[in-house]
Amino acid sequence: MAEIHLTDPHHKFGHTYRRDIWWARPLIIFICLSVFLVYVTWAAFQGNHYTFGPYLSPLYSPEVFGDSPHSWFGAKPGWWPAVLPWSPALLVLWAPGLFRLTCYYYRGTYYRSFWADPPSCTVTEPRKKYRGENSFPLIIQNIHRYFLYIALFFLIFLLYDVWKALWFTRPDTGERSFGIGVGTLVLATNVVLLGGYTLGCHSLRHLAGGFLDRFSGAPIRRSTYRCVSCFNRKHMLWAWMSLFWVMFSDIYIRLCSMGIWHDWQII
Ligand code: FES
Repeated sequence: MAEIHLTDPHHKFGHTYRRDIWWARPLIIFICLSVFLVYVTWAAFQGNHYTFGPYLSPLYSPEVFGDSPHSWFGAKPGWWPAVLPWSPALLVLWAPGLFRLTCYYYRGTYYRSFWADPPSCTVTEPRKKYRGENSFPLIIQNIHRYFLYIALFFLIFLLYDVWKALWFTRPDTGERSFGIGVGTLVLATNVVLLGGYTLGCHSLRHLAGGFLDRFSGAPIRRSTYRCVSCFNRKHMLWAWMSLFWVMFSDIYIRLCSMGIWHDWQII
């Protein structure tokens, strides 16, 4: 059989016979992920303007310690090291952050976009040998399934935040009243998108599939497997939509808290 070598190991990094703009996709992903990382890091270290009325920014949820009424255990703990800047987000953000960092989809995208390994299909790589994720440090990525369990808990907290976002304090009487605001819809959309992303996780698919990947085993939990597979088919879309919306939710609450945006409410 005739063989075609689309990449030549003797060529330099980035060489290809492709004529399309193959570099556009990794470049756009690089820009989008960089914007997200810079914004979220900045917002996490602010430690203020993360609540507005009954709304709590998803970057700060659950607020384990903090000054807002959403805090579970009161203000900043005494054991917090004085050399570290304080922000309630630093106690929780590592979990969803590592869940995304170790996600199978994101791994493919940032390997390509951030260290060009590979830059794209049939484009010469910076390395001659493929080592995969079988050795340190990338073997640590297998921890993803454990962060899935934590992410499922976070979904429950975020759902509870939506419930709390339905209860407002009336400015005239000071009483608590059931209502709905644009912020409620923003937080509800956030849970839907994060739910779609988390429930489509590859690790959850394996978990729900039981023996579906072994012909000798009895297929169990078939309906759950189908449901997870349904989300999994659009995992990339859920990943991007939820990423954008988490950032937007924080921006919305931050700008309302700063008095720049007005939150329309029906109470
Ligand atoms: Fe993407 Fe698990 S594979 S969240």
